[in-house]
Amino acid sequence: MGLKILTEHINVPGINTYETYRKMGGYRSVEKALKTMTPEEVVEEVKKSGLRGRGGAGFPTGMKWSFLAKPEGKPRYLVCNADESEPGTFKDRVLMEKIPHALIEGMITSSYALGARTSYIYIRGELMFVLRILEKAIAEAYANGMLGENILGSGYSLDLHVHPGGGAYICGEETALLESLEGKRGNPRNKPPFPAVWGLYGCPTVVNNVESIATVPWIVNNTGDEYAKIGVGRSTGTKLISASGHINKPGVYEIELGLPVAEFLYSDEYCGGIWKNRKFKAVVAGGSSVPILPGELFLKTAEGTPRVMTYESLSEGGFVSGTMLGSGGFIVMDDTTCIVRNTWNFSRFYHHESCGQCSPCREGTGWMEKVLHRLEHGHGSMHDIDLLVSISKQIEGNTICPLGDAAAWPVASAVRHFREEFEWHVKHPEEAAKPGAVFRKE
Ligand code: NAI
Ligand code: SF4
Repeated sequence: MGLKILTEHINVPGINTYETYRKMGGYRSVEKALKTMTPEEVVEEVKKSGLRGRGGAGFPTGMKWSFLAKPEGKPRYLVCNADESEPGTFKDRVLMEKIPHALIEGMITSSYALGARTSYIYIRGELMFVLRILEKAIAEAYANGMLGENILGSGYSLDLHVHPGGGAYICGEETALLESLEGKRGNPRNKPPFPAVWGLYGCPTVVNNVESIATVPWIVNNTGDEYAKIGVGRSTGTKLISASGHINKPGVYEIELGLPVAEFLYSDEYCGGIWKNRKFKAVVAGGSSVPILPGELFLKTAEGTPRVMTYESLSEGGFVSGTMLGSGGFIVMDDTTCIVRNTWNFSRFYHHESCGQCSPCREGTGWMEKVLHRLEHGHGSMHDIDLLVSISKQIEGNTICPLGDAAAWPVASAVRHFREEFEWHVKHPEEAAKPGAVFRKE
């Protein structure tokens, strides 16, 4: 069994209550930080831990915290991004649903480190039942003196609010989230300025993912140096992976970073192998926003090096033969999957979710969706395949927020790795348009 930091107690009966969570050692980091450490010392431990943002970007959390501006007379905010909407990603939901106090404890300790007096958890609108769980847990924390005025007699006070989104994927982008939290339409802002300087209500703000914040208590309790010993190189600690698709054991797994990908995919402790003894065709390793990879390139790099689950190893090969760890949304596809249909499906999603502010994304996502629809339904041409690549290049890097890139990469990588399958759709339009039809190499 691998080391468990976030999920060690997740199946303890009653762990969603304050009483049981406390009995299992919960809220120790609040006591330790507020009574024995300065805010700067907490930031220092998080920096030493090497923890990287678990929402997908992998930006060093301690560094983000140290960028927080501290102008006179302006409040600072911590906002937890719980708007988990990336296709294939459902780890934060499980954490909040099963062990809500882990996030609340992390929010208190992190808010103390950042000097925030009011903090927010912005939760995906579809997860109203989880919002209710969090509200109940927050009420328990207030009732037990962990939130509110003068927490544990330390002189530090904090109010914590949960706020639901309205169901838009784009509100998971941090600046769109802040706009939405301010009561406006969730349109992403240009960066810089980053939220660390100009965030909620124009004040310095840190936006962190649920999993990142829930990791902070362990770091405070055990020190950043101990956390940095877990994992490999710059990929320290553990990571929650949401595994779905054509595997025997879909679910949320906590892995130690550095775990060989083959072990993650095939061992019974994790995914348990490809279902129905079928062939491993492709994988989307970090949520739908990252490049798709053929099975063999996922297991080994183009140079033949076996990959491990780290930010670095999965992206080895760059955009030619690599992918990204991203949010840890791991979607496995067997050999009955039509890559063209799958890519069309992703494109429909991004077109629907584009906020429409920038033309390359607004027009390009729609254009890609239409071209993919033609190819999938037997009306495509060879030119369409190159057109997809051309549109994706025109979107990439030319938009306000990463949704543009996220829409472009799955298409570009699908054509790069599965061009033969796209061409088969053009050469055999009637066959390809049949429901369930799939290209198979002779
Ligand atoms: P980003 O790389 O632009 O930023 C990462 C974080 O670092 C942000 O909080 C940003 O404010 C901060 N940062 C970067 N440079 C900074 C500087 N110089 N000063 C201060 N702060 C700085 O990436 P972003 O937009 O936060 O996230 C994109 C990723 O999100 C994608 O790669 C994708 O994997 C993931 N994603 C996750 C979803 C989910 O449901 N978990 C949904 C959609 C995307
Ligand atoms: Fe909106 Fe797309 Fe531009 Fe992002 S890239 S701001 S989603 S139009």
